[in-house]
Amino acid sequence: MKKALIIAIAAFALASCGGREAVKTDPRVEALMKQMTLEEKVGQTVLFTSDWTVTGPSMRSGYLEDIKAGRCGALLNAYTADFTREVQRVAVEETRLGIPILFGYDVIHGFRTIFPINLGMSCSWDIPAIEESARIAAEEAAAAGLQWTYSPMCDISVEPRWGRISEGSGEDPYLGSLISAAMTRGYQGDDLSKDNTILACVKHFAAYGAPQAGRDYNTVDMSERWFREFYLPPYKAAIDAGAMSVMASFNELDGVPAHASNHLMNEILKDEWGFEGFVVSDYTGINEMIMHGYAADESHAAELSMNAGLDMDMMSAAYMNHLTELVKSGKVSEKTLDNAVRRILNIKAKLGLLDDPYKYCDTEREKERTLTPENKAFARRIAAESMVLLKNNGVLPLKKGEKVAVLGPMADTKDDFLGSWRGAGEVEAVPASILDAVKEVTTVAAQANKVILVLGEPWSWTGEAASRTSINLPEEQTELLKSLKKQGKTVAVVLLNGRPLDLSAESELSDAILEAWYPGTMGGYAVADVLFGDYNPSGKLSVTFPRNLGQVPIYHYAKNTGRPYIHPDAKYESRYLDCPNEPLYAFGHGLSYTDFEYSEIGLDVSEFKADGTLTAKVKVTNTGSVEGTETVQLYIRDLVGSVTRPVKQLKGFQRITLQPGESQEVSFTIDKEMLSFYRQDMTWGPETGDFKVFIGGASDNVKEASFRYEI
Ligand code: GLC
Repeated sequence: MKKALIIAIAAFALASCGGREAVKTDPRVEALMKQMTLEEKVGQTVLFTSDWTVTGPSMRSGYLEDIKAGRCGALLNAYTADFTREVQRVAVEETRLGIPILFGYDVIHGFRTIFPINLGMSCSWDIPAIEESARIAAEEAAAAGLQWTYSPMCDISVEPRWGRISEGSGEDPYLGSLISAAMTRGYQGDDLSKDNTILACVKHFAAYGAPQAGRDYNTVDMSERWFREFYLPPYKAAIDAGAMSVMASFNELDGVPAHASNHLMNEILKDEWGFEGFVVSDYTGINEMIMHGYAADESHAAELSMNAGLDMDMMSAAYMNHLTELVKSGKVSEKTLDNAVRRILNIKAKLGLLDDPYKYCDTEREKERTLTPENKAFARRIAAESMVLLKNNGVLPLKKGEKVAVLGPMADTKDDFLGSWRGAGEVEAVPASILDAVKEVTTVAAQANKVILVLGEPWSWTGEAASRTSINLPEEQTELLKSLKKQGKTVAVVLLNGRPLDLSAESELSDAILEAWYPGTMGGYAVADVLFGDYNPSGKLSVTFPRNLGQVPIYHYAKNTGRPYIHPDAKYESRYLDCPNEPLYAFGHGLSYTDFEYSEIGLDVSEFKADGTLTAKVKVTNTGSVEGTETVQLYIRDLVGSVTRPVKQLKGFQRITLQPGESQEVSFTIDKEMLSFYRQDMTWGPETGDFKVFIGGASDNVKEASFRYEI
């Protein structure tokens, strides 16, 4: 009896605060909430877009009237110090309580100075540089009246058909987690109230990167175990780094649209992780639950989302149209609404908006901080670091002054450098195409024997609502390469694209392939820096490049299966009749203009227990003739587990720079956390057993050693 009574009391307590504990609140917020009418509270949960930019399927006019009437508390796709000041003036001086507006925008890989697309930057493996890119983006965005970015995009993906793979950090949860946390730190800094930091937004929560058939917005279905081990970590890493807003994803997961997933938003995000920020919908995502077949109508959609922990409605107007009535009818408790409003107002307080609503609206600062020489120099450097030398038979680096031709449909593009989420980046700010940049360092002649052939996808083939059923280059591009080879030309292919491509034909035909992604504002010069050796390429693939779409999904943390393909002529093994199992270019692959030699792995012990550790060391030597940067990668395999384990998982890496002939010892400390996983009973932890450790310059180019762990 006693236990049941205790449970009943606990349940009542939980229900009485809308199913969640109220978050710790700024006293000014509590005072404000006491004055607010029900309608004014609802207004704070409403986010509309301005008509400056279109980032979704619908627009609505009259957002200024909505703000003036207290029906809207946040605005996206509006910036510049002048415009945001005018809108803020309406909110602060023409409404009853003068609650400031929160201005949000998609600052995804830069605001005015545009950096490489995120998939590109993830191939730099340069975590401090990625953090710096977010800090610069925040500096420029905050100077333009913005306080909120819809970034970092934390969606793991092994789906090259999906256009939004371009926006993420590739296939690996360990690398993706480091990047999500770094971008969060870069945006938010150590104080959100500073005039050069902005609120991060962890998106798209969750597992949006696993749409069936690679078609955007499509169904996502996976086991809780696979979700928690391979898709959830980057979101958690951003939250642990202090991210104070989260965006729900369009997809369903396990049959429930994320926009109404109590499991995702309340149970995992707010209860398990203790998240005290707010959750915003994606664009019209609440209303789209009607099309999902999960909500009967708009009012039902609003009820489902608010009760599932979704605090702010981007562009559905479902909250504006129905929340007041839902609270009056008791379908949504006022406690639940209060908790949502409290979370939102707390962030406005943390941003300093309650102290000075106009603190981000300084036109002088906007001019001073945007597209500075320092920002552009950094953009050029990180663009070069993001590029991956996939193949090189010695044609690269080119010599300055030698005669080359620069050909191809993207040789003279500037627009594609900015990618699909280009923020406020403008093509006019791009100083040089690849053709322009090469001309500055050498003789460009159409009939030269050496050719730089710039191929790729137009940026519009990537990003949102841009899935493809083919991952090949346009046929005419491959034909152009074939014809140049028939003429006996030496061809270095430069790729501008936003997804892993099927390069099987191009890898046979070309003499070199440089993956340049969409390299941002300074991309032309960065490509020339790499082609002529002013920057020795150091990028490593953060996503596997398949031989063809038939191999997809293909990723480095695959399982061994009961019939691994070991014997070339065997029939009954896991293989294809028409293609090897191995990818064209493996996760972690990337060449340099120098060579790195790895010693065998040395272990300080062959077994460790409980909370002990083991140290694995290699000596890496630059055996070439130029300085180079190498990303030394650590992978681990658990040979036997209570559930099957991947043949290798990335668990660490170190970027080192070596002069010609120089050696460096690189050591990794292996502990039980690196061996932990969701065991068969779904508890997280290690298991006793035998393990392999792999260290090398790519997931398919490693030294290996064995060790044992005892719980
Ligand atoms: C879009 C995208 C999301 C973006 C939002 C606002 O639909 O899914 O990533 O942040 O709308 O533009």
